[in-house]
Amino acid sequence: MRTIVVAVIAALVALPALADEPTIQLKPGPGLDKVEGNCGACHSLVYIQMNSPFLNAVGWNAEVTKMIKAFGAPIGDADAKDIAAYLAANYGT
Ligand code: HEC
Repeated sequence: MRTIVVAVIAALVALPALADEPTIQLKPGPGLDKVEGNCGACHSLVYIQMNSPFLNAVGWNAEVTKMIKAFGAPIGDADAKDIAAYLAANYGT
């Protein structure tokens, strides 16, 4: 019985932590509006911060292309270019 009580309390304490997804604030710059408008539709913008140490301009360009071609992100050519430029300038290696 005691174990069950402890387990229930542990679950209640853990729950709010799971629900708490912080709002991601990306660096200000030209193109940020397009990133926020297009890149958060399917997953958190934290993906951009997490990949920042690994991707240069070429890598970000490929990443944006992959989101469009492989995952079907509805982003036009002009916006994709602006987004890749923003990512390379602010989150590129
Ligand atoms: C149509 C849905 C969709 C949109 C819109 C989208 N992504 Fe993704 N993204 C995915 C999927 C699916 C994955 C891989 C599965 C996962 O990890 O969630 C992914 C993964 C990623 C990753 C992790 C590395 C990788 O390649 O798996 C990064 C970085 C990323 N996306 C960046 C972006 C950026 C930047 C944009 C805006 C240009 C964007 N995404 C828009 C669906 C999308």
